[in-house]
Parts: sequence; C-alpha cells; structure tokens
Amino acid sequence: MYNLLKGKKGIIFGALDENSIAWKTAERVFEEGGKFVLTNAPIAMRMGKINELAQKTGAEIIPADATNIDDLQNLVTKAMEILGGKLDFVLHSIGMSVNVRKNIPYTESNYDFTLKGWDVSALSFHKVCQVLYKNDAMNPWGSIVALTYMAAQRTFPDYNDMADNKAYLESIARSFGYFFGKDKKVRVNTISQSPTPTTAGQGVKGFDGFISYAEKMSPLGNATAQECADYTVSLFSDLTRKVTMQNLFHDGGFSNVGVSQEVIEQFSK
Ligand SMILES: NC(=O)c1ccc[n+]([C@@H]2O[C@H](COP(=O)([O-])OP(=O)(O)OC[C@H]3O[C@@H](n4cnc5c(N)ncnc54)[C@H](O)[C@@H]3O)[C@@H](O)[C@H]2O)c1
Repeated sequence: MYNLLKGKKGIIFGALDENSIAWKTAERVFEEGGKFVLTNAPIAMRMGKINELAQKTGAEIIPADATNIDDLQNLVTKAMEILGGKLDFVLHSIGMSVNVRKNIPYTESNYDFTLKGWDVSALSFHKVCQVLYKNDAMNPWGSIVALTYMAAQRTFPDYNDMADNKAYLESIARSFGYFFGKDKKVRVNTISQSPTPTTAGQGVKGFDGFISYAEKMSPLGNATAQECADYTVSLFSDLTRKVTMQNLFHDGGFSNVGVSQEVIEQFSK
C-alpha cells in the first residue's frame, strides 16, 4: 500500500455488508492510513454488519438518516470531535427507490414513493454537502464523492426512477462543487460505477442479465466494488487535487462502447 491517506480524516456513509461499495472503500481507506467515522441509517444498523467493519478499521459508528438535517448535524459535530478536527474526505454511498422495491413500473410511479426515493438517493447529497459547508467542516483540498450510475445519461428501463435520482445527484455535485471549490477549495465529484452485485444493485429487476451484458460490452470488463474502492481512494488523495465537478465513469469503458464483438456474435445467425 502507498499511505495515500495518511493523516486524513473523514466520514463514510452506506456500508451495509461486505458487498457494499462503502464497505470495500472503508477497508481500502483504512489500509491507506485514513481515519474515519462510519455512518448509516438507524434501520440499516440493525440489519447490516457495520459493527464488524468498525472493529476491523478502528472506526466509531454514528447513526444518521441522511435525509434528516438534525441527524447530519449531530454526525458532523461528533465526527470532528472524535477525529480531532476538520475532515478531508466524505463518501456518500446511498441509494434506495421505493418504486423499485415494490416493483412498480416507471410508467405507474407512485409519487409519494418517488419523493421518498429522491430524498434518500439525491437530495440527501445536497443535505450532506450543506451541513458540511455551513459547519466549515472540510479542510482545504478535501474531497467529497458520491456514487452514481450511467442511467443518468442513457435509459435502462428497469433502473426506473433511480435514473432521475442519479441525474439530480450528478447535478448537485456540479452545483455544490462550484461553491465548495470557490469558497473552501474542496472537490466534489461523482463516480459512475459499473453494475455491482450489492444489496442495492440486486434490487434492480433483471440485474443478472444486466451485469452480464455490461461485462460483454466493456473492453476491460465490469469494474468491481474493490476497484471502485481503489478509484475512490485516488479521489480522496492529494494526487487528484484539481479534479472537481466531474461525473467520472468507472466502468471498464462501457459508457463509450456502441457494440462489442461478443454482443454482435450473440445476434449473428
Ligand atoms: N450496485 C450497483 O450496481 C451500483 C452501480 C452504480 C452505482 N451504485 C450506487 O452505489 C451506492 C452504494 O450502493 P451499493 O451498491 O453499495 O449498495 P448497498 O445496498 O450496499 O448500499 C446502499 C446504502 O444506502 C443506505 N441507505 C439507504 N437509505 C439511507 C438513509 N435514509 N440514510 C442513510 N443511508 C441510507 C443503506 O443502508 C445502504 O448501506 C448507491 O448510491 C448506488 O446507487 C451502485
């Protein structure tokens, strides 16, 4: 390992179990010398195994519903107390759509569910950024990263209203990135990750077909959660200090491929 995050402190949202992208990222950040507080929604604490991760990485856990400003305020205040100062990195690795969970087709969206999913998956990122900004909680050259998916740019029918949520999330990274850059010298980016077998990923209908298709379309193959953790570490490190307001594809090349030889062969008589 390279000690890329030695002396750096942060908050990691969204580690549910060992498949979670946030779980793998926490392990990699720990290996690179970073210190952090882990957080997740109170209900996820009961379902998941976050205690195991906390023990392994010497992290404290502070529960917070990322849609609740009081919870976020408490989290940021306590994280700075525990870690002994301002933060250098924050990972937002949160997503949930009630319409997807309940198998409601996009054309029949229940708008109460749409609003709930939007709040959790997209607006929560604005809330996290706003609480960090108002508390002046980030060190200069700090880095804030959220995870997204390419359905924000192109249609994947079963991704449902999460596509709209991701488009909104990516826009927040640009808009808040402007103010965070100007006022605090802090980076804000999204990583657009390949389909990945996690609890959230597998909630999408037809996920198995979808992940195999992406694998066949990507010249380098799908990016794994572990590889996403590596990429995130690079964005938290000092090696990427002028990268901000970007949506960064981490997908083995999928997003720039029209069709691959393997896919053509499937359709050739
Ligand atoms: N898995 C994929 O195929 C894939 C692809 C691209 C992007 N992503 C994105 O990666 C991120 C992480 O998802 P994952 O695939 O690791 O799945 P995951 O299910 O392991 O993680 C999702 C997390 O969101 C948390 N969460 C839900 N509601 C919350 C709330 N109100 N407050 C705080 N936390 C809450 C869950 O508890 C869970 O830990 C999500 O933004 C997801 O959309 C996933």
